[in-house]
Amino acid sequence: MPLRLRLTLWYGSALALILVTFSTVLYLITSRDLRDELDQSLGDTAAAAVRSLEQRGFLPLIDENELMSQFPELARIDKFFQIFSPSGTITIRSPNVKQHELPLSRQALEVAFSGRTIFESAKYPKEPPLRLISVPIIYRGNLLYIVQVGTSMESVEHTLNRLLLVLLVAIPLAVAVSLAGGWFLAGRALRPVDAITLAAQRIAGGDLTQRLNAPASADEIGRLAETFNNMIARLEISFRQIRQFSSDASHELRTPLTVMKGETELALRRPREAGDYTTVLESNLEEIDRMTRIVDELLFLSRADMGEVKMEHLPVKLESLLEDIHRQAALLGQERGIQVVVGLMSPATVLGDELRLRELFLNLVDNAVKYSRPGGSVHIALATSSTQAKISVADQGIGISPEEQPRIFDRFYRTDDARAHTKKGTGLGLAICSWIADSHHGRIEVHSEIGKGSTFTVTLPLSPRQS
Ligand SMILES: Nc1ncnc2c1ncn2[C@@H]1O[C@H](COP(=O)(O)OP(=O)(O)OP(=O)(O)O)[C@@H](O)[C@H]1O
Ligand SMILES: [Mg+2]
Repeated sequence: MPLRLRLTLWYGSALALILVTFSTVLYLITSRDLRDELDQSLGDTAAAAVRSLEQRGFLPLIDENELMSQFPELARIDKFFQIFSPSGTITIRSPNVKQHELPLSRQALEVAFSGRTIFESAKYPKEPPLRLISVPIIYRGNLLYIVQVGTSMESVEHTLNRLLLVLLVAIPLAVAVSLAGGWFLAGRALRPVDAITLAAQRIAGGDLTQRLNAPASADEIGRLAETFNNMIARLEISFRQIRQFSSDASHELRTPLTVMKGETELALRRPREAGDYTTVLESNLEEIDRMTRIVDELLFLSRADMGEVKMEHLPVKLESLLEDIHRQAALLGQERGIQVVVGLMSPATVLGDELRLRELFLNLVDNAVKYSRPGGSVHIALATSSTQAKISVADQGIGISPEEQPRIFDRFYRTDDARAHTKKGTGLGLAICSWIADSHHGRIEVHSEIGKGSTFTVTLPLSPRQS
């Protein structure tokens, strides 16, 4: 069942329930009040009649004319009188009660003998119901008469019937109007939801540039649209990154393949000396190594993305790890006339995977040496605060411009300066470094000035036992 219909029906039934309850209570209270009022008025008239009889000293009345002249209040048209003897026979009655015999009921007689007043209702076919009061007149312990006053309940019935009619017409009318209003309002409120559904269908069809142009209100629909738009924006970014990534990856793998193909074709063009073949094969091996490394790194990153890379969680002494790195880096630097210096080394232990941390620092030192100019130097330092270890690798090399700094951690991103400086490198090193730092709950920052040098700082939380 559509939401719009459901909302409308809920709304309509709630209103109907309220109206029916309200009307029932109203009807019951009104009918009770009207009857009470009628009884009250009957009681008053009966009391007046009794008073008049008392004034006459309870003498028996001769006829109805005398009755009427004696008790003008008895002449009221809306009420009639009967006066019964204690045996229950009528001694006299007002003229407006001619059509029917209205004998005193057994119960009224019994109650009269006990000296109490009684109210009764009576109903004759084809006549409006009657309401009767019977009052005993007791003198010196004897029942002299029973005065009965009655009146038609026609006006009460009439009022109640009208009220019932009004309610029976008004309730369905009110419910119908409210259903129509509810249907309209629910439709209005749900229209943006339809718009969102349509846009979502278009987006699901593959067009991630689509956005919802729902009103920028702060209500539920506005928030839904905004959340939805944010989600699509993030999806669009990651889809673009994935596409970029595959195109970069194929490009990186094609370069060595092109080189190998060219060299091999050239060598095969005519017979050559054994030494020439060796040269070509050696060069091909170099390209194969390069491709192997790229594929390994890609494999690592994709497994890291899927959360499949297992990480140790053991204490690692950073100062001895960095000593090792320094030894390897010194060898790297030697080839290019670059000095690698170890500065301040505070002892520090972190929890993590030693192999991965080694890879992280080796990548940073490798970059520092690779992007240094001959004669430059690279500084490695380790400092600690109360909870963190800060490892910095600083060089005096080509530097990175501020606009490019945030992008160097992206996969395959290499600055133009770096490409001009060296052909070696695929741009995956820092992406891996950044993943390793993240998975140790740490981070990497870069401070760099173009032409002057760069400092990469890794911050790692110290192992709790130490801090
Ligand atoms: N110390 C540095 N000085 C200047 N630029 C740097 C430095 N370290 C990194 N970069 C820049 O960041 C880019 C990405 O570095 P990253 O280590 O990811 O790739 P790479 O060193 O080019 O290749 P590889 O995958 O072999 O490490 C580099 O291409 C370079 O432009
Ligand atoms: Mg690198």
